[in-house]
Amino acid sequence: MNYGYFDDKQREYVITRPDTPAPWANYLGSPEYGAVISNNAGGYSFAKSGANGRILRYVFNNFDQPGRYIYIRDNESKDYWSASWQPVGKDLETYKSECHHGTAYTKMLADYSEIHSEALYYVPLNKSYEVWNLKVTNTGKKARSLTVTGYAEFTNNSNYNEDLVNLQYSLFITRTAFEENRIRQTVHGNLDTLKKGEMVDNKTATDRVFGLAGAKVSSFCGDKEKFIGRYHSYADPAGVEAGNLGDALSYNENACGALAAEIALEPGETKEIAFILGMKENEEAAAILKEYEHPEAACAKELEELITYWHEKLSHFQVNTPSPEFNTMINTWNAYNCFMTFIWSRAASFIYCGLRNGYGYRDTVQDIQGVIHLAPEMAVDKIRFMLSAQVDNGGGLPLVKFTHNAGHEDTPDDASYVKETGHPAYRADDALWLFPTVYKYISESGNLDFIDEVIPFANKDEGTVYEHLKRAIDFSMNHLGIHGMPAGLYADWNDCLRLGKKGESTFVAFQFYLGMTILKKFAQYKQDGKYIKYLEESQKKLENIIQDLCWNEDRFIRGFTEKGEVIGKRTDPEANMWLNPQSWSVISGLATDEQADLALDMVNQQLNTEFGAVLMDPPYHAHAFDGALAVIYNQGVKENGGIFSQSQGWIILAEALRGHGERAFMYFKENAPAAQNDKAQIRKLEPYCYGQFTEGKTSPHFGRSHVHWLTGTASTIMVGCVEGIMGMRPDFYGLKISPSVPKDWESFEIEKDFRGNHLHIVVKNPGHAESGCKKLLVNGKEMEGNYIPAEVMTKQTEVELIMS
Ligand code: GLC
Repeated sequence: MNYGYFDDKQREYVITRPDTPAPWANYLGSPEYGAVISNNAGGYSFAKSGANGRILRYVFNNFDQPGRYIYIRDNESKDYWSASWQPVGKDLETYKSECHHGTAYTKMLADYSEIHSEALYYVPLNKSYEVWNLKVTNTGKKARSLTVTGYAEFTNNSNYNEDLVNLQYSLFITRTAFEENRIRQTVHGNLDTLKKGEMVDNKTATDRVFGLAGAKVSSFCGDKEKFIGRYHSYADPAGVEAGNLGDALSYNENACGALAAEIALEPGETKEIAFILGMKENEEAAAILKEYEHPEAACAKELEELITYWHEKLSHFQVNTPSPEFNTMINTWNAYNCFMTFIWSRAASFIYCGLRNGYGYRDTVQDIQGVIHLAPEMAVDKIRFMLSAQVDNGGGLPLVKFTHNAGHEDTPDDASYVKETGHPAYRADDALWLFPTVYKYISESGNLDFIDEVIPFANKDEGTVYEHLKRAIDFSMNHLGIHGMPAGLYADWNDCLRLGKKGESTFVAFQFYLGMTILKKFAQYKQDGKYIKYLEESQKKLENIIQDLCWNEDRFIRGFTEKGEVIGKRTDPEANMWLNPQSWSVISGLATDEQADLALDMVNQQLNTEFGAVLMDPPYHAHAFDGALAVIYNQGVKENGGIFSQSQGWIILAEALRGHGERAFMYFKENAPAAQNDKAQIRKLEPYCYGQFTEGKTSPHFGRSHVHWLTGTASTIMVGCVEGIMGMRPDFYGLKISPSVPKDWESFEIEKDFRGNHLHIVVKNPGHAESGCKKLLVNGKEMEGNYIPAEVMTKQTEVELIMS
């Protein structure tokens, strides 16, 4: 069953049935001013922080309410509906609607009773307020008189939690006022005599404004209870029903902003208005509203700016393959998803309410990888930031506060850090993610100078990027477990695996091994012979330990507990096969060919399902060891045997690195949202963005996906597809092209910007191979192998690769 389709040309997902199985959301704005909106206009807004700058209320666990509602009422018949299907929810036989989610804008189209409406929601580029631009057209033959009402449900307090639970306080700091064309809500209005910068108990008066441009306000309401009415709901607000909002304000009641305007329409006539919402002082709000006096021109221009901005970002890497799902994901939706995780981290969605007050180290360093091929200049800024959150002992701060002050931060060794962040100890993997991320950035951009850039450490001192990476090696070296492999510490990538100070993680060991391979390239560039020798010896030692202890007939184990118990051996009753050690044995380059093939085959046999490979199998239930926290979850979900989508990216990459194009693509397709567009009743989640996980085969809801948008999945799958399937493998000095694709792909094309040049790559595969390169031509000249040195590239480089 499907609820919509991909409009690849516009880069929109168009929802044609509004009764989607879950709210299907989109992101507007930036962390300066953020907004999440569903296809039924549900969602919320905030300035700077989802937790502490909340402007619009959203009640989680409440079927997507409230939202940015626009009601339309026919003043003659007194019938009313909403510009989005909900909240009024007219019969879908007579109410026709479409929701277009685009790049940083959402447009709702509706047709009902011969009125066509288009509500466009967006945050203008680089602005910190939002616009709800409504166009209404009379498509009938008689003149119509309408009342249009916009409704914004303010939180009583900018702190999300306090607004919902601390009513004895929050209710008594809020009030509303009306002026000219806008409702002004003030939180702590009684502090309005304080001078700028002055505070009482850390508090100051804050204004939020909801205003109307393009029409005169005919009535207003600043009090939620008066607007909705006791024993009414968002579906039938008393004020809308009456056609007059009663001009009430609030003082100690739940505040809201509701503004109505009368709109008369001749047959065929269109009128346009704009509601503006923001956390703005009164005068600034008045000035902003002035700019929208003629909403037609102002809004069209701003929409164009947004589209240009985002489409330009996406244009740097485009593919045209025989798979429409692959094209739409790589060209638009997975890419846009990567930007959203890059920008929002895990801050705000319909699952995350913004209470995480910082960036997770590993999450953020991984997220960066998803945008490197599209926006290396954005990536490097974040890389700098994350390097400045590396402690001088080489470990990463598990949580990097939004207020991060490099050089002056406490660390997990300080009680103050633990108290403030809730993170009690270092995690084994955090800083190890820096290796592939920094390497990918330098290789994509060619910015070798970055290796010598000096960046502070989180707590004290500074060092070059090269030094930072060396310290990451030191951190693991100084935290080894009983057998000499990296210790598991508080967690590795898997938050639910507590292997402790002496227990050991195979996954981290593989990461560490790869880290050393990567750092050797840096050391070679620096001609640091002594360090190369050190790395070679250390790596050999680690390899021997892993080979001696971690290979278990046809799979790699997951690790050791502090007591030396083996986790993930083939004879265990539960969790005897884990996905990540298998994929990472290949990604790290440690597995022998024979091991790689066996391990990947076992993944395919034991872990794979039609919706992707489960994280481990069988799930924990009665045989969990002490540190196996996954047992707290139902079986088949999250880390307890769910299809943890992030890990699909690594299995795609591993299969592609082995040249197994068929399998790499199969793993892509099984879990690709776009490939499940016709299975919305099973997947439930948006078909255009990734979720954190899909329920595994041991769940009664096998195939249902969860935790939309903000997930590391976006970046790992992107890397799996771009570096793996498409085979784009830049290094310091050029670009290797090594596609691994399904056999039946006869040809495909890639448009790629690379270090200021544009590459038009045509891949031909008449012999139906899964991988390989018979011939590579660059501007007509044959190359050696499948490598293009950067210096042979021209502004417009024509590349032809014959696979078979
Ligand atoms: C979540 C966390 C991430 C972790 C993963 C696996 O996605 O955000 O940090 O690696 O779960 O436990």
